[in-house]
Amino acid sequence: IGYAGDGRDREVLDVLLTGLSGLEYRGYDSAGIALSDEAISVYKSEGELENLESLLDGQEIPSVPVGIGHTRWSTHGPPSDRNAHPHADCEKQVAVVHNGIIENYEPLREELAADGHTFYSETDTEVVPHLIEHYLDEGLDPESAFRTAVSRLEGSYALAAVFEGSETIHATRQDSPLVLGLSEGGTYLASDVPAFIEYTDRVIYLEDGQFAALTDDEIVVTDAEGTVLEPPVERVEWDAEDAGKSGYDHYMLKEINEQPRSLRQCLRGRVDELEGSVTIEELAGLPTPKRVQFVACGTSYHAALYGELTLRERGVQAQTFMASEYDRSSVPIDDGTLVIGVTQSGETADTLRALRQAGRAGATTVAVTNVVGSSAARECDYTMYIRAGPEIGVAATKTFASQQTALTLLADAIEDGERRELLGALRDLPDHVQSILDSSPAKEIAAEYEDAGAYFFIGRGYNYPVALEGALKMKEITYKHAEGFAAGELKHGPLALVTGETPIFAVVTGDDERATKTIGNVKEVEARSAPVIAVTDGQSDVERYADHVLSIPETHGRVGPILANVQLQLVSYWLANRLGRSIDKPRNLAKSVTVE
Ligand code: G6P
Repeated sequence: IGYAGDGRDREVLDVLLTGLSGLEYRGYDSAGIALSDEAISVYKSEGELENLESLLDGQEIPSVPVGIGHTRWSTHGPPSDRNAHPHADCEKQVAVVHNGIIENYEPLREELAADGHTFYSETDTEVVPHLIEHYLDEGLDPESAFRTAVSRLEGSYALAAVFEGSETIHATRQDSPLVLGLSEGGTYLASDVPAFIEYTDRVIYLEDGQFAALTDDEIVVTDAEGTVLEPPVERVEWDAEDAGKSGYDHYMLKEINEQPRSLRQCLRGRVDELEGSVTIEELAGLPTPKRVQFVACGTSYHAALYGELTLRERGVQAQTFMASEYDRSSVPIDDGTLVIGVTQSGETADTLRALRQAGRAGATTVAVTNVVGSSAARECDYTMYIRAGPEIGVAATKTFASQQTALTLLADAIEDGERRELLGALRDLPDHVQSILDSSPAKEIAAEYEDAGAYFFIGRGYNYPVALEGALKMKEITYKHAEGFAAGELKHGPLALVTGETPIFAVVTGDDERATKTIGNVKEVEARSAPVIAVTDGQSDVERYADHVLSIPETHGRVGPILANVQLQLVSYWLANRLGRSIDKPRNLAKSVTVE
């Protein structure tokens, strides 16, 4: 976050702290601010933002025209006061905050150290203020020193710098997000809009390689050569209320409960049940592909697996890759290949890299994302928005349901299939989710199995990604061991781990051969005395073998798994809640992982 104001409307310090609390979900192992006037003052502290706030409490903080702040998610150097941003140069002429990785920091550091610069941290970032200082010492003005230093950097960065005696913040980006905000009372920059949404909804999305100079009454955007540009000013539709907790104890619970609304938004204007048609405006002109590859990470990867199945069912060749494992040299890509990046944030470095590789190899690329103006959205040939609204909880919930729903529509746009029944089920989906939220016994089940050492999740077909996602949610927020398995694989190894103390969540929807076989697997664990919790629409007789049932309404075979997942989200939430975990910000995890 950065803020340039003249102190007329609000204190720089207040804006920075509010901004940082809006950004904490991106990383929170340390936090810091730099305030700049005639001199630069830096305050920083390891741990969550409240540590920084206590540090500032009781200190005389100067009123200044500009400041920058940062919450950190470590890449180089463990969390510590020293490694926290902002970083300054030897003489404190400049202070810098940075997201991303400076890949050539080692040679730069050696060069600067040989030149007499002393480094205080173990971060890659610290080379930046020293490099800027080097050019200031050569006589360049702050802007030229900043530009020249940046021209020497390799890697990914969103950078903001304040200079001693200057009322301008200089910023730039390369492969890391940076958005600028304009208001009557000053100008802002941040990695993401929630940082300053309280003050303004007028934003400029800075592009890779562009520079911005922020003062209290204007932002000047330039390209690498210094030519002044006139980027469009856009309005974001989220308000501060949207980005707040609305009375829930955790963002995660709020976001689970928002699913009826977010799903309605996802479907709005895209499904005409009477006509039996699906229209996705953003995808008009999308060529019919020979084959489809999905690339994604984490929860989005599970949604992509689900998307793959919907396409295969329609006879389309489709394959899903963890973005970090995607290697174009080992998969066929040509101009008939469609590569779909599923990414909530649109900023996940692994996914962006895979999409860029695919694009360079001639594939058509599509981003399925939640964030307008994100890197994925801007870089791909096509973008489909899942329209879930801001998701603050690190553990993805509402965005998973919206991804599944969006991919169901996308599959239909790529290849026609049986439709009428599906569209009816999608129309009912938001209400069906609501009925689960109103009646779920998840809280009691969480209480009953709170002490288990491990939790297994099994499912077949469309329910396999749901089992994986159920286990991922459980791991992320309860810190307990959880694994998701294809139901049929259980007997090929994992069954050895099953005891009377291993709760098994079995996701069984419909009453087809898959359901029958999964029930066979349920019997295998039941014979080992494992408690079974069936997540089911009641069509099969799995309930006979279950100790508990998490019911979902009966619906279309492709929509049932979206509902089943909501029950599993609730179980994980309530279990983590009983255990007193840091639900919205689980240890070691970040919402948006912008490094590979
Ligand atoms: C991080 C988050 C996960 C998320 C994954 C992919 O690891 O902690 O919750 O699923 O990134 O994020 P994306 O924004 O690409 O969907």
